[in-house]
Amino acid sequence: MKRKKGWIAGIVVIVVITLIFAGYNIYRHPAMFRSLSDNSLSDSQVEELRDEILSQPDVKVLVAYFSYSGTTRGIANAISEKTGGDRFEIIPQDGYSNVYLESNREIRGNERPALTDTVENMEEYDIVFIGYPVWWHATPAPVNTFLESYDLVGKLIIPFCTSGGSGIDETLPTFLYSCDGLAVYGERRISGVSQLDGWLSELGVTGTEAEDQPEQTEQEGAVTQQTVPEEIQMEGTAEIMEFENLPVYAYRHQEIELENQGQKIYGIAYIPETENERVPLAICAHGLGGSYQSNAAYAEQLASHGIAAYCFDFRGGGGSRSDGDTTEMSVMTEVSDLEVIIEAAAGWEFVDENKVVLLGTSQGGITSAIAAARHTDRISGLVLMYPAFLVGDAVHEQFDSLEEVPDRFQFIWITAGRPYVEDMWDYNAYEEIGNYTGKVLLLHGSADSIVPVSYSDRAAEVYGDVEYYVIDGAGHGFHGGAFEEAVRYVFAYLQEIQII
Ligand SMILES: Cc1cc2nc3c(=O)[nH]c(=O)nc-3n(C[C@H](O)[C@H](O)[C@H](O)COP(=O)(O)O)c2cc1C
Repeated sequence: MKRKKGWIAGIVVIVVITLIFAGYNIYRHPAMFRSLSDNSLSDSQVEELRDEILSQPDVKVLVAYFSYSGTTRGIANAISEKTGGDRFEIIPQDGYSNVYLESNREIRGNERPALTDTVENMEEYDIVFIGYPVWWHATPAPVNTFLESYDLVGKLIIPFCTSGGSGIDETLPTFLYSCDGLAVYGERRISGVSQLDGWLSELGVTGTEAEDQPEQTEQEGAVTQQTVPEEIQMEGTAEIMEFENLPVYAYRHQEIELENQGQKIYGIAYIPETENERVPLAICAHGLGGSYQSNAAYAEQLASHGIAAYCFDFRGGGGSRSDGDTTEMSVMTEVSDLEVIIEAAAGWEFVDENKVVLLGTSQGGITSAIAAARHTDRISGLVLMYPAFLVGDAVHEQFDSLEEVPDRFQFIWITAGRPYVEDMWDYNAYEEIGNYTGKVLLLHGSADSIVPVSYSDRAAEVYGDVEYYVIDGAGHGFHGGAFEEAVRYVFAYLQEIQII
């Protein structure tokens, strides 16, 4: 009898573990669980169609893209410039107030969110590039809506994606299975515009514009100054906000590369063209899996109002143009990157070294807070947006002891490594960040489900001099009205601390 009970208990444990594992995977990889059958054209059919299309005298190209935080938009803009293709942005009608939860629910539920706009003349296009960020190892649901809204048979469909590390293959089921007879061709994950010329010429899809592109980087000591990278040259991502009391300036871009521990840090400075030789500088630190483009919208606002901004990729950032692997990255390697940037920026010819501000979002927030605490005399202002002060708790939640941490593991959607956990295991950010003696601006969304607002409540108590605003209804990342509110707080604060 005892033996029988033991068997039953064993089976129950196995079933429970299987259900937990399946549930976890459905959450992490929702796209895997659709029923699939490949309806796309065979390779030889695709090649035949490609040859036919490319032999025509006038090939019409459309570059359709979805972008949440601007990275894919930058790539799409560059593709459209290089191919002479028209652009179309896929915009979901409802947007996202909590992108992580809502996007996961949409993908898991195989939903088709309504879009704001349609391509009226789709029948005229021969080639359609479709770009998107990888979300939960899949295409964002608005891309599925787009694909299913048109008859795309007879066109070359070229998917491209950006991501924090995931490959494009994970997203292909959308193209192969959800529509009949698509000619899916030449898909590629793009981590920077420098890859585009090679990829487009492999595809055979180059416009005349491609020949006129600027030369590649030329090294000049630690700081590289070069022609403006074309994805940012073309168009900003944000409407420039007007403040009655602040003049608006044109600004230029400059690529600046630095080195930390033998590895490259890549970044772009937005430099306002003011009458002053030296201007204040905001060093903009991105969040986990982000890039130098993540905070571009803030940089555009700052530069347009006379404050230079430096947006860069942390080393090991994922889809990064800086060196390093995500498994080597930690909050502390990012602090060290910031320290290198703070040191170098003081010597940049356009920077007023007495007016250097750190602006960090999410994980970039905790790193900026730590770097400011360690260099309080050099940092004149500190702006923290939904700072990820929860990293210490998160690593303890994921692991019971340091010994059990593997060399590589999944953390949110990035592949992290042991340093990520080791560096935060015994570290309490709240014990250090208060060493920053300047005034702090702290912003957090009331509906942030990634970093609960309580983490900022606690930070606000630690800081001696802080302006703390909770933006009603905003999630992890400020968009639309929340973005505008945040920008207004930033400019009021920068005036108050006499940066402008
Ligand atoms: C909700 C969400 C889910 C994501 N899931 C993944 C993922 O599964 N794999 C990955 O490598 N990156 C993932 N990322 C990171 C984005 O793919 C990456 O930052 C991308 O370049 C952002 O492009 P965008 O700026 O055009 O929105 C995710 C980002 C978000 C917001």
